[in-house]
Amino acid sequence: MTEPALDALLHEGRRFDPPVELAENANAQPEIYEHAAKDRLGFWAEQARELTWDTEWTDVLEWNAPFAKWFLGGKLNASVNAVDRHVAAGNGDKVAFHWISDGDTERRDVTYADLKREVCKAANALTSLGVGAGDRVTIYMPMIPETVVTILACARIGAPHNVVFCGFSSDSLSGRINDSDSKLVVTTDGQYRRGEPAPVKPAVDEALKSTPGIEKVLVVRRTGTDVEWDEGRDVWWHDVVEPASDDHTPEPFDAEHPLFMMYTSGTTAKPKGILHTTGGYLTQAAFTHRMVFDLKPDTDVYWCAADIGWITGHSYIVYGPLVNGATSVMYEGTPHPADKDRWWKIIQDLKVSILYTAPTTIRTLMKWGAEVLEPYDLSSLRILGSVGEPINPEAWIWYRENVGGGRTPVVDTWWQTETGAIMITPLPGITATKPGAAMTPLPGISADVVDNSGKSVGESGGGLLVLTESWPSMLRGIWGDDERYQETYWSRFDGVYFAGDGAKKDDDGDIWLLGRVDDVMNVSGHRISTTEVEHALVSHPSVAEAAVVGATDPTTGQAIVAFVTPRGSVAEDESAGEEFVQGLRDHVAKQIGPIAKPRQVLVTPELPKTRSGKIMRRLLRDIAENRELGDVTTLLDPTVTEAIRDRMAGSDTKED
Ligand code: WT7
Repeated sequence: MTEPALDALLHEGRRFDPPVELAENANAQPEIYEHAAKDRLGFWAEQARELTWDTEWTDVLEWNAPFAKWFLGGKLNASVNAVDRHVAAGNGDKVAFHWISDGDTERRDVTYADLKREVCKAANALTSLGVGAGDRVTIYMPMIPETVVTILACARIGAPHNVVFCGFSSDSLSGRINDSDSKLVVTTDGQYRRGEPAPVKPAVDEALKSTPGIEKVLVVRRTGTDVEWDEGRDVWWHDVVEPASDDHTPEPFDAEHPLFMMYTSGTTAKPKGILHTTGGYLTQAAFTHRMVFDLKPDTDVYWCAADIGWITGHSYIVYGPLVNGATSVMYEGTPHPADKDRWWKIIQDLKVSILYTAPTTIRTLMKWGAEVLEPYDLSSLRILGSVGEPINPEAWIWYRENVGGGRTPVVDTWWQTETGAIMITPLPGITATKPGAAMTPLPGISADVVDNSGKSVGESGGGLLVLTESWPSMLRGIWGDDERYQETYWSRFDGVYFAGDGAKKDDDGDIWLLGRVDDVMNVSGHRISTTEVEHALVSHPSVAEAAVVGATDPTTGQAIVAFVTPRGSVAEDESAGEEFVQGLRDHVAKQIGPIAKPRQVLVTPELPKTRSGKIMRRLLRDIAENRELGDVTTLLDPTVTEAIRDRMAGSDTKED
């Protein structure tokens, strides 16, 4: 962000008080902050008591920095907390999910009793396929009820799940299967995207050519398209899950039993398997869902429009809402230009009262214009949430005014795959919100903004965001790599967690998030590593060297811009052609997934380097964002940047 833009942001004078009625009836009342501050561990124990435990814990926290154990000795089953206890309380007929297919061609209401039956069947089927407690299961599935069922069935039998977003390539999938050492994959034949069937299983078939640990593949029929079949390995869901018994006795697991892993991009080419365990994760996912969205389980209709393939879907489509007994909307599709008013139809029809989405989506909806919303009655909405990247004040105000009719609080929630649950956010019945600010650490959470030496910057200062005390849903490590865990999060400052985000405190001490300070890009709320894209590019036979930067983009937040030098063997007229660039973009999509496709690839005979041979990404970012170049005095050959800039001016960008 440029200095003037940041300045304007921090002098944003608008304040929005919570609506009086909401404040009076809110789940979280102002005393909660002080209450938690007085006895942090006691406070979290109180929240943990909202769950159903088979055995109570003996100690709340054991902290051997940077390794945490929460609720020691406690035992519970995550699927019992998400499903069985609601059925036992007489709420079996309550809708857990109003599922809506892509393009709304089909709707299915799944009640808590339905969910319990399906989860039990799936748990029995997984057991019969040889999956036991501790075995990893990779899930590569679109947004269908069976995906939730599979997740909960894994949790029920203590098999950590590893959900891989369906948009990732077969290479990314095999990497994650192998790193997690999974035994089984659950997938579908295909999925619906923008009204059309698209293949899913072929990517699994391709991935499984290099995953020796996989014994079985369980396949849900979704599109009915023909798929290749490996008789000894592949089994249909309808052949093993449907006929399975719906009677299943759940086993309680230790509070620290691994619940799932989720791979996310870091600063190196290899994604990290972020490990979450059971008791602390469920406690904080449920607590935050109850407080940040002020959930009233009997009257609210809640909709988190993320994909289950990301942490937002895990914590705020699956675990948080189900543990709280919420009624949710689960939508298979995503907004697209041929279906602009779909969301508003759904909100009107189902009287959605809480909506949680990402700034990139808000900006897309904003681009389509407020007139798309006008014909619809959105008066059921009472709380709006945002997550995934800093939200610009313009999008924040548009969201509140046009979607929320000027009535609804907007909660801008900061957190990460690693934090497991929301950490910094306004509370809708307490906080006077500021457009663009995540504001305040939640009760029980300790965060700060520090300078390079680790010293707190105090009010009106900028620096790096750190978390200064362990929290229940914090990652317990990087799967199979304790050293990398310590190195990535705990080595920058002594004893505090380094989040990788820049942040600033305003004159009131409220926190504003300013984006990543490392080589991680944020494209449409998806985390992508520059190094990973660079690796994908140099794996192409025609590429000698590549440098990738994230450039500010009005819709996606950041966009991937790649600078590439071709190998000497590539003829100049070949590398100058559109086909060459398209080939490289497609190569990245094949290597990592379509979400990592660069918006722009610039072919250049040389990259700007320092005399010691380091690529100067800062300059490339200046070029990509069309800014005045920063200091070029350390450059080996200053003419290189000028040559790149000239090429940039003449090149095209792509939006697909
Ligand atoms: C990174 C984490 C949390 C689920 C979705 C992304 C950025 C996330 C905000 C926000 C500013 C945000 C940060 C963070 N981020 N939410 N409200 N304001 N930045 O999870 O893929 O693990 O990415 O997303 O840079 O470090 P993730």
